[in-house]
Amino acid sequence: MPFIVSCLRVCGCIFKSRSERKLYLAIALFGISVIILILQLMMLFYGFSTQKVPDELEEVKPQILNRWYNFTNGIGWYNNKIQLSDTKNWQRYLKEIRKYWIIRRFDSKKSYNLKNPQIKDYSMGQTNVIQEILKNKKNGFFVECGAYDGETRSNTLALERYLGWDGLLIEADPINFSNMMDKNRNAYLTATCLSTKPYPSVNTFLMAKNIGRLHNPHDSDEYLPNTPDIACSYFSAVFSVHRFNGCP
Ligand SMILES: *[C@@H]1O[C@H](CO)[C@@H](O)[C@H](O)[C@H]1NC(C)=O
Ligand SMILES: *[C@@H]1O[C@H](CO)[C@@H](O)[C@H](O)[C@H]1NC(C)=O
Repeated sequence: MPFIVSCLRVCGCIFKSRSERKLYLAIALFGISVIILILQLMMLFYGFSTQKVPDELEEVKPQILNRWYNFTNGIGWYNNKIQLSDTKNWQRYLKEIRKYWIIRRFDSKKSYNLKNPQIKDYSMGQTNVIQEILKNKKNGFFVECGAYDGETRSNTLALERYLGWDGLLIEADPINFSNMMDKNRNAYLTATCLSTKPYPSVNTFLMAKNIGRLHNPHDSDEYLPNTPDIACSYFSAVFSVHRFNGCP
């Protein structure tokens, strides 16, 4: 207040007429309100973005980011729309998938590392339905795309745990994949996605809790969480690796 009062005194000397003084006072007040409004908007936006989009990638172990999400050395021969009908390409691709893109971390000396080990059906009723349809089939092979953390709402954990199934868990979100690595699932794991085209590709992935998805970098989402680059495998290739060649 003392600041404004002294301002008014100064103004009073410069602008002699009353109406002139009023006009400039109004302009000054308007200017101050605009500045306050802008500051508030900036704070709101900044608060919004730091609250909603923390740099969650920092939680992920650097080894995981480097191993699965680092394409600084180039994306190799991906995105060249390679013809997988060509046998040579196909063999080379299978070899690469086995070597780089699918791992098996299971340690038979350890048990599952689950947050809720007592649960029988992790997928909110779906497990029972699937088991009924498959007549409690034992020792099958599953492919779960969007495996999340390998426990929460898992469609396949019960099959693996109680009916001896083996399988492949595909999860593109680095945080979810990193959590999945710690669960000691007895299955193959891959931090990739499935290509929407009949060839492998590198795409951008939108991390968005449990609705993460492939993402065009120019999509105008209201706010953009982390969008790491991600390798997408051609589905029949991933599947063939298991069926015909065995995994590393
Ligand atoms: C990605 O890989 C490059 C080259 O191998 C390396 O220099 C860089 O530090 C890596 N980036 C991260 C985030 O690990
Ligand atoms: C999955 O990843 C998202 C980040 O996209 C994170 O917010 C969420 O907590 C993760 N969920 C689990 C169960 O790991």
